[in-house]
Amino acid sequence: MKYRFRSPGRINLIGEHTDYNGGFVLPAAIDKYTYITLEESNHFKAHTVNFGERVEFSLNEEKEKEEWANYVKGAIFHLAKNIKKRIRPFNIEISSTLPIGAGLSSSASLMVGLIYAISKIENINLDRERIAQIAHEAENEFVGVNCGIMDQYAVALAKKDSFILIDASSGRYEYIYAKGFPKIMIIDSGIKHKLSSGNYNTRRNECEEATKILGIQFKDLKRSFLESKKNLLGDNLYKRARHVIEENERVLKTIKAISRQDWEEVGKLVKASHVSLRDLFEVSTVEMDFLVDHINKIDGVYGSRMIGGGFGGSIITLSKRDVKNDLKEIGRIYQNEFGVEIKYYPVKLSGGVRKV
Ligand code: GLA
Repeated sequence: MKYRFRSPGRINLIGEHTDYNGGFVLPAAIDKYTYITLEESNHFKAHTVNFGERVEFSLNEEKEKEEWANYVKGAIFHLAKNIKKRIRPFNIEISSTLPIGAGLSSSASLMVGLIYAISKIENINLDRERIAQIAHEAENEFVGVNCGIMDQYAVALAKKDSFILIDASSGRYEYIYAKGFPKIMIIDSGIKHKLSSGNYNTRRNECEEATKILGIQFKDLKRSFLESKKNLLGDNLYKRARHVIEENERVLKTIKAISRQDWEEVGKLVKASHVSLRDLFEVSTVEMDFLVDHINKIDGVYGSRMIGGGFGGSIITLSKRDVKNDLKEIGRIYQNEFGVEIKYYPVKLSGGVRKV
């Protein structure tokens, strides 16, 4: 018997590098998916349709040679560890309409998808929060990326046509229905984003160091206190901390602007988030800055910014009209400048992981 599941990718409207600092994020799932088909088998086997790769593995703590296989193995291993039960082997087929390494959480999509799928087939009683938490634990401990909880929560909990406001300090969340929301376009910079490459963990360590020096958690940190301790922190840590405080404020302002359907204001906040990620948190790249600068000049665009961990990946653009033709032109200039092609596609806000 074969079972098929569909697990979405995610975007984040605003609230970047705030989740692991106990702050606010505003992600949503998108209509680009990882499809997972499971069939009983004598051994664990995984196969990627898009890349034609195959692995066979046993469920133990040992890492696989192939990096992608560790996302599969890690998810199942941590599921077994959490429920304290053996999981029988499956043949796992993975195919995807979600670009890999484009900053749209292909890894959380796969891991949450697998844990959800196996828990449904095996009647393991886990709610969606718990599934997200296990996937998060697996990515932290098995894959070795110290990511926050945003991506897994978005993939597991998303609702159609809504963003999810998550307070990462408590894990509480609420749906923000995005009635009349502008058109959303994703532009893949063509520069691969990889959380496991180390830059992400460096930023996370810097934030931890800043809170240690300040002796206060980010959620209690006020701008005036930060200013008074500027010398103690030094330039870099000060900039990281300032980004986190201001980005959290921007998330809350964005919620208010969405409720008023004030898309100009949402656009301004999105633009300000990019400037902060570029200048204060320093996770953007020249390529992404180039795209954001050019796209923000298009008539009818409310605002653009990089999304996700940074150092490559995608740009999100909000606009009142279809901007495909304008992006074609920018893509030409971009290719001349950087020798890389951009890809762009409209997305809609989708529901979370489910059986199909
Ligand atoms: C990655 C991580 C998230 C979050 C973002 C930055 O996507 O997986 O937890 O930290 O980067 O906002």
